[in-house]
Amino acid sequence: MISPQLKQFIERIPKAELHCHLEGSIQPRTLIELAGRHGIELPFEDEQGAKAFYEFTDLNQFLGIFALACGTLKTAADFETITVDLGEDAARQNIPYREVFFTQAYHDRRDVPWQQVIEGLASGRRINKERFGVEMWFIADIDRTIDPQEAVRLVEKAHESREVAGIIGIGLDSQEIGYPASRQKAAYDLATELGFKKVAHAGEDAGPESVWDALKSLGVQRIDHGVRSIDDEQLIAHLVETQIPLTVCPVSNIALKVYPQMSAHPIKRLMDAGVLVTINSDDPPMFHTDLVNDYLQVTETFDLAVDDIETLARNSFEASFMQAESKAKYLADFGAEVAQLKRELFG
Ligand code: ADE
Ligand code: ZN
Repeated sequence: MISPQLKQFIERIPKAELHCHLEGSIQPRTLIELAGRHGIELPFEDEQGAKAFYEFTDLNQFLGIFALACGTLKTAADFETITVDLGEDAARQNIPYREVFFTQAYHDRRDVPWQQVIEGLASGRRINKERFGVEMWFIADIDRTIDPQEAVRLVEKAHESREVAGIIGIGLDSQEIGYPASRQKAAYDLATELGFKKVAHAGEDAGPESVWDALKSLGVQRIDHGVRSIDDEQLIAHLVETQIPLTVCPVSNIALKVYPQMSAHPIKRLMDAGVLVTINSDDPPMFHTDLVNDYLQVTETFDLAVDDIETLARNSFEASFMQAESKAKYLADFGAEVAQLKRELFG
């Protein structure tokens, strides 16, 4: 059992979140409201119904439900609504800094123009800073399955909109098996040329070879998930040596049956090996979680100590794509706040 003090420590310690999908973070009440705005029928009527509906067998079946949630997003106002929800939720959980994925391929399939999405992200991000003091940046994700030429065009569009919408990086998500990262090398080469940060989901549905592929063909600076690296000693040694961070999403991995239960999850083994691990919530309402709950579940299962939690939270700022000056400031504030929090809670 986690003590009330440790629970408070997890709730109140400043945390950055680096792996969370805008479209997978729509709260059921907002989803129902958006569906109402556009006269769209959902397979549930209320929040209870949504909770019962969000049960998954694997990644690919989940992606079908993710697409269904995307179906409620049509206008710039819709994208603003969900971005502001995510800012408010960040403030509630002491997440002053959040890097958030959005995946335009899902909106292209419904003919929602890029400009509508960008307008909503831009105004939502501004509101989050003003209203909640939350700093939000976006990573434009390439759906692995799209045509490589389309992925190149996405990077071009991200470049045109990078200032207005705060796009700092390019990522890769969706169906991992059958769509190797190397397929999208051209888009990542362009991203490199344009000075974008680069990440990729890998080692979630597929094994360590998929992580190697993302590292070698795309030159990514972080791996999203990457948990299945644990099955390759050489890869673990490489991650330890390079300190390439993993954005691990423990509750997501259980919800999508990557591991049968939390005790089988490799997060503690990755930490003990010296890999730079961060904790993240992926698509939190769909997995019945939030960032605090992800920390709590890992702490409970692996009996983490206060110092382990502090390391994980500090890692989240270290692994972020902030400018050096900004990072130094966040880390200094982090140190002071954590020292105060420890005095208050543990004497
Ligand atoms: N898109 C949203 N969540 C995802 C996940 N966990 N893996 C791959 N693509 C995703
Ligand atoms: Zn993800």
